[in-house]
Amino acid sequence: MSPRFQAPRGTFDILAQEWGQRARVYAVAAEIFDRAGYGRIETPAFEDTDLFARGVGQSTDIVQKEMFSFEDQGGRNLTLRPEGTAPIVRAYLEHGMQKLAQPVKLWHWGPYFRHERPQSGRFREFNQIGAEAIGSDSPLVDAELIILLDELFRGLALPGIRLRLGSLGSADSRVAYREELKAYLRGRQKELAPSVRERIDLNPMRAFDSDDPGTRQVMEEAPTMLERLGEDDAGHFNAVRAVLDRAGIAYQLDPTLVRGLDYYTRTVFEFESDRLGAQAALGGGGRYDGLVERLGGRATPACGWAAGIERIVLALDEEEGGNAIDVFVAASPDRRERAFALVRELRRAGLRAELDLADRSLKGQMKQADRLGARAAIVLDEERPAQLRDMASGEQRELDLARAVEELGA
Ligand code: HAM
Repeated sequence: MSPRFQAPRGTFDILAQEWGQRARVYAVAAEIFDRAGYGRIETPAFEDTDLFARGVGQSTDIVQKEMFSFEDQGGRNLTLRPEGTAPIVRAYLEHGMQKLAQPVKLWHWGPYFRHERPQSGRFREFNQIGAEAIGSDSPLVDAELIILLDELFRGLALPGIRLRLGSLGSADSRVAYREELKAYLRGRQKELAPSVRERIDLNPMRAFDSDDPGTRQVMEEAPTMLERLGEDDAGHFNAVRAVLDRAGIAYQLDPTLVRGLDYYTRTVFEFESDRLGAQAALGGGGRYDGLVERLGGRATPACGWAAGIERIVLALDEEEGGNAIDVFVAASPDRRERAFALVRELRRAGLRAELDLADRSLKGQMKQADRLGARAAIVLDEERPAQLRDMASGEQRELDLARAVEELGA
């Protein structure tokens, strides 16, 4: 026998019976975005590697070790997209969206790729839904985006959701803070995990994300950016908070929230679920006021978020919905053509109708109808008039085929 294949490590198949929940997430999100004036955008699954190196940042885990990069036949360096914000900013610039009324509000849904260590809720190919509002620095934008994600989780009735909120200040004000933090970390470097120690110069703020006990202890006493916000940044943050407070959105202030991508400025946030264990982050984002400029545009403020579809599905408080059908048409061999035509007619009338496609006996077909959870069965047998059977009660009666659609209540 030839060897069989398996889906690559960290990837998964989305099976037919798993599709219903995703479709519901999509439908709820699409409606929320539509009402809020967000347009759907889709960008390619791969981009120039430099877009992420420059956009997401050289010092991040994503760029340093998680990208699936390759050279194509033309010698171009390409990368399967690890995230969606840099590609959308690329599209914003490429299509001259600066000329539209600002902010330009976009949403997206699709696959992303990161070479991470796979575990529950963490995959190498996963799907994200996300929103980006490019072209305004109003605190209303930050608040609106957070509220939209909150509405999505509420619309899906996701239980046990927490929101963490922080601010990283503007890039300029962060320069002095980073120096202060580096000096603090150097002073206590013996207590830090080696991986944190090595990155004091490159990315000191990531030390807040470490789960090494020694490092955590050090970080508990570390100065935070939230305490060092300049007047403008503090004013902006307070304005975001005031809108959220008025909207009744509960959040926890978290001065240690740093996020894993380099482009963030000012507001950052993350939604967590207490049902997800170690990979608790359902979705997160923040402001990225420097990214458009970093990718070759004029200085343009922007804000956005992304949420993981697989993590949302894991956190959903519901059983997988069955795909019960309305009617199964069972037929003896010489009535199969009639059955095929009838099924087409029933489907056109809006019913979920199936028939046997595997040459089963009439008895076998009734079993199949049962397995499919059919509400009713129509039996076409050369030896007697057509019958309509209620699958739950087992009651059966004669059926005038011309009235089948009406009888089935379509
Ligand atoms: P992120 O926090 O890297 O942000 O990813 C957003 C969400 O994607 C996470 O909260 C998580 O639910 C999901 N996710 C990330 N990695 C994985 C994985 N390996 N397996 C399963 N799910 C995963 C971003 O990607 C930013 N682009 C968000 C953003 C948009 N910021 C501004 N605009």
